[in-house]
Amino acid sequence: MAPSINISWLISIQFLVLVVKINGAKIPAIIVFGDSSVDAGNNNYIPTVARSNFQPYGRDFNGGRPTGRFSNGKITTDFISEAFGLKKTVPAYLDPSYRLSDFATGVTFASAATGYDNATSDVLSVIPLWKQLEYYKNYQKELRAYLGERKANDVISHALYMISVGTNDFLENYYTIPGRSSEYDIEEYENFLVGIAGRFTEKLYQLGARKISLGGLPPWGACHWREPGI
Ligand SMILES: *[C@@H]1O[C@H](CO)[C@@H](O)[C@H](O)[C@H]1NC(C)=O
Repeated sequence: MAPSINISWLISIQFLVLVVKINGAKIPAIIVFGDSSVDAGNNNYIPTVARSNFQPYGRDFNGGRPTGRFSNGKITTDFISEAFGLKKTVPAYLDPSYRLSDFATGVTFASAATGYDNATSDVLSVIPLWKQLEYYKNYQKELRAYLGERKANDVISHALYMISVGTNDFLENYYTIPGRSSEYDIEEYENFLVGIAGRFTEKLYQLGARKISLGGLPPWGACHWREPGI
């Protein structure tokens, strides 16, 4: 799927930025989990066809570079980072050209084509959500080693956590491959996904996150795939 900018997201972001500015709250970092809506290139470093490191992706990005973002330019989380006075883009955790000094103010663990459901990430062999959380735990360790316990805990508890995932559970999985659709009707499958989302959020909270944005599903009826050579 190839979203550029989602209007409802942008409106809620403006609201979020406004509320945070009014309250004078400090956002030291943006930490992201999800799918192609927020992947900044992690899939370039795993064996999958779910990639966007080719033209016309990235043609309006700084230098016209296809970075692995499923967008002509920056993605929503990049704009949010910039709006909070942090970096202009949120780097991908698996990209070896970034260091912990970059990740200390923002990082994305997202992987295009993933879902809440493990069966969704299996379809194109991408990073499941539970594994993104494992990467995050690793990141916490690295951050503590880099910043020291007290500073790292401060970043962890004041950071903004954004989760954007769920469309692929329907697009790529439920409506496309057999399996889940014979196991669950739509409402049951929705409840199954909501259960996973709830437990994921609880785990994040237990790990120290306090500002968590769980994006709902964008209107994905007009989304489409564009693969190399098609
Ligand atoms: C997804 O897979 C992980 C790792 O095997 C497992 O811990 C988790 O319980 C699975 N999630 C669901 C909802 O089955």
